[in-house]
Amino acid sequence: MKPEIIRTVTLAEDGAHFIADCATQSIDDYGHFRLCLSGGNTPRAVYAALALLDCDWSKWIVTFGDERCVPPDDPQSNYRMASEAFLLVTTPGELLRIHGEHPPEEAALEYENILQQVAMRFGEERYRHDLILLGLGEDGHTASLFPGTKALSETRRSVVANFVPKFNGYRITTTYPLINAARKVAFLVNDPKKAHIIEGVLQRDPAYPASGVQPAMGALLWFIGK
Ligand code: 6PG
Repeated sequence: MKPEIIRTVTLAEDGAHFIADCATQSIDDYGHFRLCLSGGNTPRAVYAALALLDCDWSKWIVTFGDERCVPPDDPQSNYRMASEAFLLVTTPGELLRIHGEHPPEEAALEYENILQQVAMRFGEERYRHDLILLGLGEDGHTASLFPGTKALSETRRSVVANFVPKFNGYRITTTYPLINAARKVAFLVNDPKKAHIIEGVLQRDPAYPASGVQPAMGALLWFIGK
């Protein structure tokens, strides 16, 4: 399916309203809204704008697309960033955190099992998000799917511990099988320096891991800051 591209000077507000609209639709359709959060810096402003909206937060099931291998109160933690930006003021019905403080493989297996338990609750073989938010790195990575890393070739598991040589350390990341099972995937990019990378991903350049995000039965959107 061809991606939908939204170019905007108000990425935070537009992204927030898009997420809220997806939530309304999912809650109408399924009684809940399963949202997967992106890490990094870009989403912080989107999450802060989202916190100002009037949503039925109790019906939200929030997961994370990746996590650094740090405790939840570490400045590097994606959970901490999202908590400060909106989770603490909205209190979603279910918040499924990746335990970055645990040994990487243990944390990945734990999260895989948590998602699998919820998937079984919904009668699914693999957890199916209503919406996954993703960022784009300057090397074309997304979540913690970095160029040349093992997680890129994962075809079975939904969550893995991925060794990233540039950090000489592990990240916990969701995989293409989980990401591409989503009903909707939305990239949030607000950096003009990434314009050429976006073009490469839109052309499906395999050098960029974000090119592998091709929802099998879902929509793909790009919110690009102008
Ligand atoms: C992370 C993210 C990562 C991020 C990109 C873009 O844990 O850092 O999952 O994939 O989305 O690196 O980050 P910015 O939005 O801060 O540029």
